[in-house]
Amino acid sequence: MSTLQNWLSGERVSKPVEHPRVVMVTGATSGIGQATALLLLSLGHHVAGLGRNAERLATLATHADSLPGELLPLEGDVTDGNLVQRLAAQTLAHFGRLEVLVANAGIGHRGKLAEARWEDIERVLRTNIDGVVHSIRACIPPMRAGGGGHILTISSVVGPVPTPGAAVYAMSKAAIDSLSQSLRMELRNDDIWVTNMIVGQTATEFAKRRLGRSGKVARRLPTMPPERVAAQLVRAMDRRRRTVIIRPIDRLIVLAGRFTPWLMDRILYRVYG
Ligand SMILES: NC(=O)c1ccc[n+]([C@@H]2O[C@H](COP(=O)([O-])OP(=O)(O)OC[C@H]3O[C@@H](n4cnc5c(N)ncnc54)[C@H](OP(=O)(O)O)[C@@H]3O)[C@@H](O)[C@H]2O)c1
Repeated sequence: MSTLQNWLSGERVSKPVEHPRVVMVTGATSGIGQATALLLLSLGHHVAGLGRNAERLATLATHADSLPGELLPLEGDVTDGNLVQRLAAQTLAHFGRLEVLVANAGIGHRGKLAEARWEDIERVLRTNIDGVVHSIRACIPPMRAGGGGHILTISSVVGPVPTPGAAVYAMSKAAIDSLSQSLRMELRNDDIWVTNMIVGQTATEFAKRRLGRSGKVARRLPTMPPERVAAQLVRAMDRRRRTVIIRPIDRLIVLAGRFTPWLMDRILYRVYG
C-alpha cells in the first residue's frame, strides 16, 4: 500500500493547531516527505511541498484540498541551487513567511564503492548533500527575516553506523550529521534551531528506487511505516532536540556503534559482508 493509501485508510483525528506554521518539505511526493506533508496539512500547518514528479504533486494537491492547511506544490529538483532559491522566495511571497524546513529529499545506493558507477555516486552526493545544503541556504534568509525557525535534517542509522555495501549512501548521511551540528551553533543567534532525525528502515519506495544493487528491504531489520517517522518529525518541530533517533532498536544500534565499534564491525561484516 502506498503512503497516500495508508494515510487515507488510517484514522485522522487530529485537531488543527492554534498557530499554523509554514513548512517547506522537500521530497513531498513520496514516502516520509509525503506522510509528513499530509500530517502537517491535517494539523492546519501550511506546506510548500517540493518534488520533481508533477503527477504526484498534483495527486498530493488533490488530497490537500480537503485538509485545513494549505499546500503550495513546488515542482523542482533540489540539486539545482538557483531553482531552490526561487522556490523558497515563491513560498515567502505566497505565505508571507517560511518558518520550518524539512530537508528530506534523498536517494539511496547499495553496492561496493569500488564497483559503483561514478554517475550513481555523483547522483547520491548531489541529491543527499548538495540538495540539503541548497535547501537550507535558501530557507535561512526568510527564517532570519521572520525572527527564527527550525531546520530538520533527515539522516539514517547508517550515517553513524555504516554497513558494508552502504559506503556511498552512508557518507552522504554522515555529512548531514556533521552539517546539522555546525549549523545549530552557527544559527544560534538567529534563533534557528536544527534537529537531525536519525531514521531506521522505513517502508517507502526508497529501496525500490535506490541506485546500485537492485533494491529490496533488508528482511533482517524491522521496518516502520513512514507515518511513524512523520509523527516524530512533527513532534520534533515543537521541541529543541539536537538529534532524534526514532526507534529504540535504532538507538541501541547507534549506541553500540559508538561504544563498541569493534563489535559492531564484526556483527555487520557477518550480516552484510
Ligand atoms: N526508507 C528508509 O528506509 C530510510 C531510512 C533512513 C533514512 N531515509 C531518508 O529519508 C528520506 C526520504 O526517503 P523515503 O524513504 O521517503 O524515500 P522515497 O519514498 O523514495 O522518497 C524520496 C523523495 O525524495 C524526492 N527526491 C529525490 N530526489 C530528488 C531531487 N533531486 N529533487 C527533489 N526531490 C527529490 C522524491 O521525489 P521526486 O521523485 O518527485 O523528486 C521523493 O519524494 C531520504 O533522505 C532518505 O535517505 C529513508
